[in-house]
Amino acid sequence: MSKTWWRGAAIYQVYLRSFADGNGDGVGDLAGLRSRLPYLKDLGADAIWLNPWYPSPMADGGYDVADYRGIEPVFGTLAEAETLIAEAHELDLKIIIDVVPNHSSTASDWFQQALADPAARDRFWFRDEPGDWQSIFGGPAWTQVPDGQWYLHLFAPEQPDFNWDNPDVHREFEDVLRFWFDRGVDGVRIDSAALLHKSDTAWEDLDPVHDVYRHWRTIADSYEDRVLIGELWLPDQERFARYLRPDELHTAFNFDFLSCPWDPEELRRVIDLTLTTHATVGAPPTWVLSNHDVTRPVTRYGRADTSFAHGGALHGTPSDPELGYRRARAAALLAMALPGGLYVYQGEELGLPEVEELPDELRQDPMYARSGGTNPGRDGCRVPLPWSGDEPPFGFGGPSPWLPQPESWRKLTAEAQLADLDSMLNLYRTGLRLRRECFGDGTLTWLPYGDRVLAFTRDSGVTCVANLGPEPVPLPDGAVLLASGRLEDRLLPPDTTAWLRTP
Ligand code: GLC
Repeated sequence: MSKTWWRGAAIYQVYLRSFADGNGDGVGDLAGLRSRLPYLKDLGADAIWLNPWYPSPMADGGYDVADYRGIEPVFGTLAEAETLIAEAHELDLKIIIDVVPNHSSTASDWFQQALADPAARDRFWFRDEPGDWQSIFGGPAWTQVPDGQWYLHLFAPEQPDFNWDNPDVHREFEDVLRFWFDRGVDGVRIDSAALLHKSDTAWEDLDPVHDVYRHWRTIADSYEDRVLIGELWLPDQERFARYLRPDELHTAFNFDFLSCPWDPEELRRVIDLTLTTHATVGAPPTWVLSNHDVTRPVTRYGRADTSFAHGGALHGTPSDPELGYRRARAAALLAMALPGGLYVYQGEELGLPEVEELPDELRQDPMYARSGGTNPGRDGCRVPLPWSGDEPPFGFGGPSPWLPQPESWRKLTAEAQLADLDSMLNLYRTGLRLRRECFGDGTLTWLPYGDRVLAFTRDSGVTCVANLGPEPVPLPDGAVLLASGRLEDRLLPPDTTAWLRTP
């Protein structure tokens, strides 16, 4: 792969706990992932991003990291992680890991030292009095320790925030980056990347964070072809672009696209804004439809309100499954055709819906408990994947996965879908193969096609037409390469996308 592989890569997100279970304990692991690498290769992924794999009490699915240089024993060992990296590389798949620099775990050595000795507290945010900030997961962002002081946690109380004014914290993460780059990791996804620095009045997007990333960039650049990817939920595009300046992060997730409703004008606005914003700094855009924090597209696109907002959907919000499925297919081909990188969250390629009917006592996401149960949380998009067979656990491994899979998933297993040419899985497989030839990094040219249709041609000469209107529309001339739904008489039905090689 080229030095700038990341500019147009299709990156598949593996939520390890729910991907594949190699040892039968009900939790996905490295052995399971290793056994499924050929599946990801055949799917057409260029790279894999793994959610945190470090030792963790799992108060927030591993985003409470107790040791940044180890592997959670439930997932495997460091030696196995190194084997995974080598095996992935043999298949020409890059490995991206998650680094969590905003906060740690209360189980980490540093936090335990801080608890035991008030003189060792400067690496975190301890104060005599709590502030009035609320945690992003709900409830207060300050928790009191037995001697009376309070510490800050923007997320769960088990995730104490680091103090980035302390030089130890800088040294620690520089060393952690080198630790993993030395082991062959090709890139890092930086969790909550805009939150690191705080003042007494603000906790997001403070200027000193850019010095951190400039320094991290010099570390990444001292290795070959390593990439830094930011998780940045910033509404202000100019502020967002600052993180992607040539000496900072390489790319960032496009959450505006992910959150956008299934509406042609809104989508076009977001696509144009994305392209302009990234052009100012020369960074490639990315296109994201889902991840482990958001409602599955099949469910979201079937609702009356098709946008995504954290905490926006309440229990029991109705969704039309057929409509959602059709739109999710159309959205997938739209996202694949746009210029830049692409993220595919595990299960998206199977068209899995959000599992909304989980028993409340099984929900593990702290968002659920901390919202007093009003927000269903993110467990519904984290249910273990169905691989094969007619009944749960559908080849996931072990007799009972950590979250139960719906019986109805028998139609959605990878095995069943491979055998069905019209399945979502085969749409993704064909789409990703063609994408590698026709799309990825570059530019687009919009075609005039009315208000309800998004149509553009890419540098390869291939045209993408997505019909978001209520009526079928005629296709332009050219050979159809792929369509997300059935075409009749060269008419593109509503909620359908087609790719054509125009003459
Ligand atoms: C990021 C992660 C999310 C996690 C949070 C706190 O947003 O994607 O899963 O809960 O950070 O680490």
